[in-house]
Amino acid sequence: MGQPLRIGMVGAGRISGAYLKTFARLDTVRLTAVTDLDTDRAAQAARAAGDGTAVAGSVAELVERADVDAVLNLTVPAAHADVALDALRAGKHVYGEKPLAADRAGAAAVLAAADAAGLRVGCAPDTVLGTGTQTARKAVDDGLVGVPVAATAFMTTAGHERWHPDPEFYYRPGGGPLLDMGPYYISALVHLLGPVVRVTGATARPRAERVIGSGPRAGDTFPVQVDTHVTGVLEHAGGALSTLVMSFDIHAARLPRIEVHGTTASLSVPDPNNFDGPVELYAEGAWQPLPVSAGYPDGGRGIGLADLAGALDAGRAHRASAELAHHVLDVMLTLLDAAHDGTRRPVSTTCERPAPVPAQVAVA
Ligand SMILES: NC(=O)c1ccc[n+]([C@@H]2O[C@H](COP(=O)([O-])OP(=O)(O)OC[C@H]3O[C@@H](n4cnc5c(N)ncnc54)[C@H](O)[C@@H]3O)[C@@H](O)[C@H]2O)c1
Repeated sequence: MGQPLRIGMVGAGRISGAYLKTFARLDTVRLTAVTDLDTDRAAQAARAAGDGTAVAGSVAELVERADVDAVLNLTVPAAHADVALDALRAGKHVYGEKPLAADRAGAAAVLAAADAAGLRVGCAPDTVLGTGTQTARKAVDDGLVGVPVAATAFMTTAGHERWHPDPEFYYRPGGGPLLDMGPYYISALVHLLGPVVRVTGATARPRAERVIGSGPRAGDTFPVQVDTHVTGVLEHAGGALSTLVMSFDIHAARLPRIEVHGTTASLSVPDPNNFDGPVELYAEGAWQPLPVSAGYPDGGRGIGLADLAGALDAGRAHRASAELAHHVLDVMLTLLDAAHDGTRRPVSTTCERPAPVPAQVAVA
């Protein structure tokens, strides 16, 4: 292994703590600098990261630092593309939170800039590299369900404003249940079943305003600018059909997260927002737990960036790739377009299924 990849983090909000926790136990990545529009937050994150982590005064300052090899972009979706482009212009690799960008133009600009500069761009979610989705994928690849016919993917909640103190971004362009949570489910479905070639959907926006449920602004209302209940069908290149419900309008449900149904058996796949969880196969009249057979065993937010660091060292492709994230974003945006004009639409992008994560490899 070479030197650790030196990381400059932009955005020190709610999710940043999970990344800091993962970095503390990895020696392939090292946080060297932090910045945030909120300087107190940046300073707090630098303190939490430990001695030697600098606070940069701005994104421009952070991306120019000689001790930053890659920029970790944990800003809100509307800023994802701009921050990534700043980093790429400064010659830095990028790994960012999902979605890759809030719109197609932003995503395309990021991919083009990375290509032109010969730099890597990675994107969350990396949860799907954990033992849950990867064990399920191995079961599908090993033929345990026969030929995949159908999948279901359900994400239901009454809305993130109940717990997030600054929830407005979830209800602006780039947010909504599909763009926020769809990346977990659709990335998992691409790992399991391959890329998507056509989509259709229908959506609803039952409330014009939401109420902040926690933090200093609890009780404040804010406008809803996106559809908050999204249903759709994804047609995979291999022929399987995935049915999707992603909703911020469901108070309680007993729906599974993901299931894959094949010609000989059915598979229950754990929550793709987690790294692990039980994988069960229904065959010969009963659900049977499958042993862990693939995936990073030490999952935590940031393993996708550690995978990218290992990929740079080894000269291989990284798994939480911009190509996958771009395809997933395109699938989601095409589904919303199809829902809005009542059509079934082709998806214009595609991607390779990322390489599977073999069993029992450390994050590298
Ligand atoms: N909160 C979660 O549980 C969670 C989980 C998984 C993924 N995510 C994703 O992580 C990202 C961040 O979410 P969060 O919940 O941490 O949001 P947050 O609002 O808590 O934090 C975002 C931070 O980014 C900063 N920021 C925004 N634009 C910036 C810019 N241009 N330059 C510098 N700093 C900027 C903000 O000041 C804020 O501190 C989102 O894409 C979200 O989808 C969040």
